[in-house]
Amino acid sequence: MVNLTIDGKEVAVKEGTTILKAARFAGIKIPTLCYHERLNPIGSCRMCIVEIEGLAHPMTACNTPVTEGIIVTTDSPRLQKMRMETLKLLLVKHPLDCPVCDKGGECTLQNLIHEFEIEGTIYQAEREDRESLYPTPLIHYWPDRCIMCLRCATACREIKGLGAIDIDGSGFNTSITAVNRDKCESCGECIQVCPTGALTENLGRYKGRPWMVNRVMTTCTYCGCGCQLEINVFNNRIVGITTKDDIGVNKGSLCVKGRFGYEFIESEERLTKPLIKKDGRFHEASWDEALGLVAEKLKGIKASHGADAIAGLSSARCTNEENYLMQKFMRAVIGTNNIDHCARL
Ligand code: SF4
Ligand code: SF4
Ligand code: SF4
Ligand code: FES
Repeated sequence: MVNLTIDGKEVAVKEGTTILKAARFAGIKIPTLCYHERLNPIGSCRMCIVEIEGLAHPMTACNTPVTEGIIVTTDSPRLQKMRMETLKLLLVKHPLDCPVCDKGGECTLQNLIHEFEIEGTIYQAEREDRESLYPTPLIHYWPDRCIMCLRCATACREIKGLGAIDIDGSGFNTSITAVNRDKCESCGECIQVCPTGALTENLGRYKGRPWMVNRVMTTCTYCGCGCQLEINVFNNRIVGITTKDDIGVNKGSLCVKGRFGYEFIESEERLTKPLIKKDGRFHEASWDEALGLVAEKLKGIKASHGADAIAGLSSARCTNEENYLMQKFMRAVIGTNNIDHCARL
């Protein structure tokens, strides 16, 4: 173990722990922007600077490992002034269009601006209209809101193993761009980690503010992984899908289907009533009629060819309980072991 002092508090942590993690372990909050629990430290924003006794310049807590006996200060007039300057510089080309930004209300940058009481854009610079070059039509990239923290590109590379996006350009014209467009799987991992409204979802734009939607926790039904997600409901309509970094097997990750494939739920083409084909055309029927017809056909096949002429194929989109009932039905009612499941394929 390594012993150190943070803001007068004695702390003991494992070797290799960063100062940021040691502080969090001790219940001490250090502001961060680019740091994300699921990514290797990026060290791009400098919001997490701390003073270490004996060193002339502050160090970034997110990527500096603890060493025996160091004395760390996380809050001082000098640190607060430097953090405030960092924020002011991040706002040089930032539009602060929070009223129309989909991230407003759950934006880390907005929260820090509020915490540091920064009343608007202090430093001004010429803004260029910049084209958004993002590799998927499901996500909109707003270059002026981007603080170049690099969480998105790091997540695409480290979590997804794809490297579809990266930093491009220099100075005020730096932006995130598609470097391997073909590799993008439209998974939305980049949106999940973005601390600002620089990446927003195209399907849900302007459909409901974060504090207005009811987030209903559920399990994704697309495959057998069972990812946990939140269905965002506003005025009884689904306006988006979110997830959390600390729940379920997915821990903040989703695939393109889980994160963006929700519009079918309200599609007018969706079947909501049984259809029975008569004379080459489908006709609406009641559930009693439809189930009666299926039972009659199954009985007929069993009587003429035996139970093993029938097989059941169940679905990963059903719950465990429904799949249990399906195999029970095939074995106990039909009388065959011909039962399988698409998730096994
Ligand atoms: S990214 Fe954050 S601070 Fe910037 S406009 Fe959106 S909500 Fe406001
Ligand atoms: S949507 Fe997924 S694959 Fe595409 S850039 Fe974002 S993280 Fe990378
Ligand atoms: S798009 Fe978001 S995550 Fe990516 S660099 Fe900009 S602010 Fe950071
Ligand atoms: S959080 Fe440490 S440099 Fe950004």
